[in-house]
Amino acid sequence: MAERFNFPDGFAWGTATAAHQVEGNNVNSDYWVIEHTPRTPFIEPSGDACDQYHRYAEDIAMLAQLGFNTYRFSIEWARIEPEEGHFSRAELDHYRRVLAACHEHRIAPMVTFHHFTSPRWVAGDGGWDDRKTADRFARYCEHAAKYLGDLIASACTINEANLGAYQYLIGMTRERIDPARSRWFSEAARRIGADPNRFAPYLMCDHMKARDTMLEAHRLAAPAIKSCGHRFPVGITLALSDFQAAPGGAARLKKIRTECQDIFFEVARGDDFVGVQTYTRDRIGPDGALPPEPGVEKTMMGYEFWPEALEGTIRRASTIAQVPVIVTENGIAAADDSRRVEYVRRALNGVARCIKDGIPLHGYIYWSMLDNYEWNSGYRPTFGLAAVDFKTLGRTIRPSARWLGEIARANAIEI
Ligand code: BGC
Repeated sequence: MAERFNFPDGFAWGTATAAHQVEGNNVNSDYWVIEHTPRTPFIEPSGDACDQYHRYAEDIAMLAQLGFNTYRFSIEWARIEPEEGHFSRAELDHYRRVLAACHEHRIAPMVTFHHFTSPRWVAGDGGWDDRKTADRFARYCEHAAKYLGDLIASACTINEANLGAYQYLIGMTRERIDPARSRWFSEAARRIGADPNRFAPYLMCDHMKARDTMLEAHRLAAPAIKSCGHRFPVGITLALSDFQAAPGGAARLKKIRTECQDIFFEVARGDDFVGVQTYTRDRIGPDGALPPEPGVEKTMMGYEFWPEALEGTIRRASTIAQVPVIVTENGIAAADDSRRVEYVRRALNGVARCIKDGIPLHGYIYWSMLDNYEWNSGYRPTFGLAAVDFKTLGRTIRPSARWLGEIARANAIEI
């Protein structure tokens, strides 16, 4: 018999986006240059994206009408500090308008200060390989928080600060792109006047060095954000796969967990929450992640359809970080929207089990509000609760959006 499960009062129900993936024309960022360099691994450039830079008001109104109470989005460092030390008042005012639109619709804005992209000048001057990027990042955070802090409901310093290390440790990427052997990479560096050996965009740099820069950047940025004097929770978000040992994989699994999860959970102990971002599981063999198990359904990203991964990662994050958990991303790229409903339904059952067991879990944020620019995969994978017609930029609400919005409104599910 189905039972009704009520989520705690004040539970955050939201959707997430990232500036570069939805705003459009993020021309001063490192990724924009890479997307436009011949032979780039990106299948298409981001271009206008969803034009949310101009359409934020309608998107936020849509979220509120559907029943959500939270919007997680990122502010773009490349817009706010286009040259070192020059902070753009006009761009900060833009984000004040976005934040004000959230409040107008009773949507709590959760602001991410870094979501993969950086200004060209940062990436070209040592980027995430270089410790000084942590200081530069903290300075930008302090400046932006001072200007925007009165309107922020909660903040994430860095999105998936462990992603590079995770992809490297499971064997998905090499430790670093060798500029001497990669023509597109050295050409991208040349286009911004950088030495290719000093060009280090996040996820295209030395992943283990970047991990340490990211850890330091978070340590410095969290107090820098708090120094604005407005009291809101601040945390970090992490890319958390549910790692499972395949035969012979136990030692490798332990190393991966220690080096790309636990080290971050330990830093998160000093924070107000830890953001869990989970899409699937990874089976770990002696040499790293194994391909999807034969017979298991795959998503448009080629991941295993494995909604139960969320529960496993919430439990681990909570046990080690010992701070409240917010699911800051969970979702699926699906051509068939009914698979999205099924995925989220099963993921939410796991969320409910965690809450029943007393885990302090404060919110569930679906990735993503809209179909958007999925990095090197371009516009093909469709994660959105709303579809976007990239010719007209019109939005169409999918049935899954109404279904999840009703759950948010009721703050309850049938389990
Ligand atoms: C990232 C998003 C991305 C999503 C889906 C997360 O790793 O934060 O930027 O679009 O996963 O792949």
